[in-house]
Amino acid sequence: MNKSLIIAITCVFLSVGCNKQSQKIDAIDDKTPIVTITGERIENKTYRALPLPLDRGRFFAGSGVCSVCHTRLTDQNGVDVSIDNDWRGSMMANSARDPYWQASVRNETILFEKYSDFIVDKCATCHMPMAQFTLSKIEERNSQVFENGFTNIENPYHNLAMDGVSCTLCHQIETDESEEFNNFNGRFSINTRLQEGERINYGQFFIADDQSMIMQQASGFIPRMGKHTVQSEFCASCHILYTPTIDDHNEIVGEFPEQMVYFEWKSSDYY
Ligand code: HEC
Ligand code: HEC
Ligand code: HEC
Ligand code: HEC
Repeated sequence: MNKSLIIAITCVFLSVGCNKQSQKIDAIDDKTPIVTITGERIENKTYRALPLPLDRGRFFAGSGVCSVCHTRLTDQNGVDVSIDNDWRGSMMANSARDPYWQASVRNETILFEKYSDFIVDKCATCHMPMAQFTLSKIEERNSQVFENGFTNIENPYHNLAMDGVSCTLCHQIETDESEEFNNFNGRFSINTRLQEGERINYGQFFIADDQSMIMQQASGFIPRMGKHTVQSEFCASCHILYTPTIDDHNEIVGEFPEQMVYFEWKSSDYY
């Protein structure tokens, strides 16, 4: 099958999908059952999503701080295309809550007890990035996920951690002085020198001063044009992961290419 045919089919498929989506949204009213739990139908109930966190930390803010303004966008058919709603259902917004992730972290620490501290901290780097980054810079220690760690509601970083891969994490990622990304394995570069109230959120467009002041006053973050946000390498900071390999004597002997999404794409015909 040649490429243009594939693209044509994809387009048909997408447009069918979009129509369905708008019909579905139109059809939701308070009589539509939308949730089934353990086989039992829950009738006449819609479930509202939890409020997004309004926490502010030294480097980051919860997604609730951003979604007050970046919300209620609809397309010409009235379908909601708000950034906050799009994001909150994504795997990245749920990267900390993800039960499969939590179970894997626990499992790894049981299997490799000797490296347990390192493993938990490593897993939190991309799955609970705002909390892990803050703790590692301010308190210079490893993150914990269970017991008194980030999943514990009493933990001061709980809300930032559970917000997953959130707005102010992505929008603060920078390139280095030579405008390169050097960042695989969760080594995204975030400016630690900027003070609270003066931190920068990059986006792809030019923002006029009066507009940027509105956002700064309400959120403490200044929107600024950064063309690097549309480069694929931007995402590779977390979407390339090498994990250590361990031999029979529990010694680290090498590295395993665990996730290579970015390199796979670069080697593909789509690049
Ligand atoms: C008080 C309302 C308000 C809040 C709160 C707010 N913003 Fe904004 N944001 C704006 C306005 C206004 C603009 C400029 C829009 C324009 O000029 O088109 C903007 C622009 C941006 C841009 C630049 C987009 C581009 O076009 O390149 C990004 C990125 C952004 N905001 C992210 C965030 C994040 C992340 C937060 C949470 C920390 C946030 N905003 C909180 C109002 C707000
Ligand atoms: C460099 C960033 C990074 C680190 C560090 C990281 N992950 Fe992930 N993880 C990801 C990304 C990105 C995905 C999504 C991969 C995809 O679908 O392409 C993911 C997906 C997963 C998934 C699949 C989730 C699902 O519901 O499908 C599990 C499980 C997981 N990671 C466990 C772990 C564990 C355990 C650790 C620590 C040993 C860890 N991750 C460390 C970035 C990371
Ligand atoms: C995984 C990283 C990531 C997360 C999480 C994320 N964004 Fe973005 N966002 C981007 C990138 C990359 C762009 C620029 C690409 C584009 O404009 O299509 C962007 C674009 C934007 C824009 C500019 C509008 C536009 O269409 O270009 C705004 C405003 C924005 N994001 C706000 C938010 C808010 C608010 C949140 C949280 C609810 C959020 N973003 C979460 C990566 C992210
Ligand atoms: C801070 C780290 C981080 C950054 C930066 C990041 N991601 Fe992710 N991404 C993750 C993690 C972690 C997951 C997996 C969450 C889970 O499944 O528990 C993920 C999952 C995803 C998924 C779902 C994959 C699947 O198999 O369902 C997509 C799609 C995705 N990311 C796209 C992007 C794009 C596009 C960008 C750049 C704009 C980006 N990501 C930047 C950490 C990140």
